[in-house]
Amino acid sequence: MSSLDKAGAFRIGSRAVRRLGYGAMQLAGPGVFGPPRDRAAAVAVLRTAVESGVDHIDTSDFYGPHVTNQIIREALQPYPDELLIVTKVGAKRGSDGSWLPAMSAADLAQAVHDNLRHLGLDVLEVVNLRSMLGIHGPQEGSLEEPLTALAELQRQGLIQHIGLSNVTARQVEDARRICAIACVQNQYNLVHREDDALVERLAREGTAYVPFFPLGDFTPLQSGALSQVADQVGASPMQVALAWLLQRSPNLMLIPGTSSVEHLRQNLAAAELQLPKEAVARLDTLAETTARQ
Ligand SMILES: NC(=O)c1ccc[n+]([C@@H]2O[C@H](COP(=O)([O-])OP(=O)(O)OC[C@H]3O[C@@H](n4cnc5c(N)ncnc54)[C@H](OP(=O)(O)O)[C@@H]3O)[C@@H](O)[C@H]2O)c1
Repeated sequence: MSSLDKAGAFRIGSRAVRRLGYGAMQLAGPGVFGPPRDRAAAVAVLRTAVESGVDHIDTSDFYGPHVTNQIIREALQPYPDELLIVTKVGAKRGSDGSWLPAMSAADLAQAVHDNLRHLGLDVLEVVNLRSMLGIHGPQEGSLEEPLTALAELQRQGLIQHIGLSNVTARQVEDARRICAIACVQNQYNLVHREDDALVERLAREGTAYVPFFPLGDFTPLQSGALSQVADQVGASPMQVALAWLLQRSPNLMLIPGTSSVEHLRQNLAAAELQLPKEAVARLDTLAETTARQ
């Protein structure tokens, strides 16, 4: 029994995992490029996460690149049976750290093999296709070619389940004609709620939705109302932001990122935070306020 069980579990692919997990992107160097300043600290964050009951870690071989997966392998192998590692493909890094599309069949095969090698796995349990049609947000367009290529890698036994990231509702529908979709990972948090309808639809269908930037990215969420609610409930603004997501819909699977054991512990404690109805109503106005600005 872990205190994380208070937030419940939900299915991704073949198994249910705890709804409060960990996103490993912050473990690479500045700008998610190169090695971290303190590799031992990165290893400690991962080990503390798993010791605390985290059984869902989100990563990619393009974090670093390669570095984050290599640190995961160093910190956690042999992997606990209950640990689900979800990775993503579809992008690569330029020599200057830029984020470039890599969605050709050859790029995707290379990315799957790189993930397998750097994580030290024979099979990747869940692989998200990260659409790079739009770098900073979902953009309509066909994903048929890259998805067909990933489905072929799945047939070869290198991938168990396929998910999608940075996609539109229509792309989710279209994708299902090619393969089953285990999860959708898009930007979503207290103030970015463009996917409200998609979250609810996927919840009805029993599909996990994994919000990235749950704390608002590199500049964590800041707002007077959020701080006031945090004071009222005796928690930090980041904990309130996570608790709001947990209460928003049962299919939301959280992967807050941090490079700090202290922040990790604070974030995981959000599993035990129950927000009163009035606090949720106040927080619900934040997105409307932001949209009006
Ligand atoms: N599919 C995609 O396109 C995509 C894009 C982005 C991210 N992701 C995934 O989503 C995960 C989460 O996103 P993210 O890590 O970029 O953003 P995030 O979770 O929204 O926020 C991370 C930022 O918040 C800070 N932070 C974390 N906990 C904190 C706390 N308790 N108090 C104060 N500050 C805190 C971190 O700094 P410290 O390190 O100092 O704690 C870091 O700067 C990533 O790790 C990655 O796995 C996916």
